Amino acid sequence: MRISVIGCGYLGAVHAACMAKLGHTVVGIDVDERKIAELSAAKAPFYEPELEELLEDVQQTGTLTFTTDIAAAAGSDVHFICVGTPQKKGENGADLTYVDSAVENLLPHLRPGNLIVGKSTVPVGTASRLAAVLLDREPEAHLVWNPEFLREGHAVSDTLHPDRFVYGVEDGAEHHPSVAVLDDVYAIPLSTGTPRLVTDLPTAELVKTAANSFLATKISFINAMAELCDAAGADVTRLADAIGLDDRIGRKFLNAGIGFGGGCLPKDIRAFMARAGELGADQALTFLREVDAINMRRRSRVVELTRELCGDGLLGKRITVLGAAFKPESDDVRDSPALSIAAQLQLQGAVVTVSDPKALANAARRFPELHYVQDVDSALQNADAVLLLTEWREYRDLDPHLLAKSVATPRILDGRNVLDPAKWRAAGWQYRGLGRP
Ligand code: UGA
Repeated sequence: MRISVIGCGYLGAVHAACMAKLGHTVVGIDVDERKIAELSAAKAPFYEPELEELLEDVQQTGTLTFTTDIAAAAGSDVHFICVGTPQKKGENGADLTYVDSAVENLLPHLRPGNLIVGKSTVPVGTASRLAAVLLDREPEAHLVWNPEFLREGHAVSDTLHPDRFVYGVEDGAEHHPSVAVLDDVYAIPLSTGTPRLVTDLPTAELVKTAANSFLATKISFINAMAELCDAAGADVTRLADAIGLDDRIGRKFLNAGIGFGGGCLPKDIRAFMARAGELGADQALTFLREVDAINMRRRSRVVELTRELCGDGLLGKRITVLGAAFKPESDDVRDSPALSIAAQLQLQGAVVTVSDPKALANAARRFPELHYVQDVDSALQNADAVLLLTEWREYRDLDPHLLAKSVATPRILDGRNVLDPAKWRAAGWQYRGLGRP
C-alpha cells in the first residue's frame, strides 16, 4: 500500500520505517528540516535501539522517503497522523495544535476512499470532531483512531510485534470499510495472531489514556508502598516480588524508585484529568491527582535522602548523578525524574555532575547550568555521593570495589533499587535504596 506518515518524532519515524519493513511504500513528512535531512540519510534523529539499522535496511529498497512537503502525501491511500500532543503551557490539558494542523494541511491532498489514521494520543472526543471536519471537506474519505502503545527503547519491536491492535471506527462495527484497509496495512503482524479489537472512536481514544493511567497508577502504588516500607523498616523490592506472584497483580511495572517521567505518562494523566473535567466527570479521575502527587514526591524524597546521606547538608557537596534519560535505552529527557533531581540538588548548593551514555546533549539543552561528563570514571572522581537515577545496564554492572577508589567518600543512593545492597556494603559503601532498609 502507499502510506504517508505525518510527524516523524519518536512515534512517526519508527512507524514510517516499520511500515516500509512490512512491505509498504512510505513517505514520512515533518516540518523539521533537520530531522528530515537526518532521516533521509538513514540517521535516527534520536537514540532508539534498532532504528538506524532498520532505516538503512528499508531505504536501500527505495520504499521509504522523507520530505518536509505535505503535498507528497497526495497519492497515498492511508495517512497516519503521528504528531505530538504535548501538555499546554501552564495548563493540564493537551495541546492539539499539531494534530489539528496536520489534518488541515492534509485535507487538500486527500482523494475519495483515502483513510486518515490517527495514532497520536488525544483527549477523548478529538476523533469525532476531526471526523466531522472530514465529512464536511472530503466526505468520501474516512477517519479511524488506531492508538499506539509502543515504549521508547523498544519502539521497533513493539511496532512490528505489538500485543494488540485497536481500531476505532465511526460506528464501531467490524464491517466498516476502514477495517479491511487497516487489516491490509497490518497483514503481517495480524497473520501471527495479534489480537485486533474494533471499537467506536471514543473507546479507542480512551483505551490509550486508560492504559497509560493504569501503568502510572501501578508505579505510584508501589512508590506509595515504598514510603510505607521506609516508615516501617520493610523492603519494597521483596514486597513487589511477593505481591507480583499473584497473577492478577503481576510483577511488571512494580519497580519502586524515583518515579515515572517521559513524554507520555505524566502529561497523559494530566490531560485525562483535564478532559474528564470538561466532560463533567472529574470525580472519576481525582485519584490520578494522587498518582501524580505520589510521583512528584519521589523527587523531593531523593533530594532529602541525599542530604541525609551527605551528613552535613548539600552545600558544596560534589554529587555525581548517573543517568539523565527518563529511562534506559533512550536519550529522551522530557520530564526526566533523574534530571529534575539533579537540577534540584544543584539549586540547593550541591556541585552536580551528570553522566549518561546517550542523553547528555539533550540534557545540556534543557539544563545548561549542570556539569556533564560522558565518561563514568571521570564523572565519579572525588564524588561525595553517587546517585544512580537511570538504570542503564552499564551502571547496574558497576564494580563497587573499583569505584570506591575513585570517589571521595563511598556513598551511593540507588534511585531505581537495582543494585545488590549486600555487595555494595561489603565493598565499604554506605548504601541507600528507596523503600529498602
Ligand atoms: C509509555 C507506555 O508504557 C507505552 O505503552 C505508551 O505507548 C507510551 O508511554 C506512550 O504513550 O507513547 P514510555 O513512556 O516509553 O511508554 O515508557 P515506560 O516504559 O512506560 O516508562 C515510563 C516511566 O515509568 C519511566 O520513567 C520508567 O523509568 C518508569 N517506571 C516504569 C518505573 O518507575 N517503574 C516501573 O516499574 C516501570
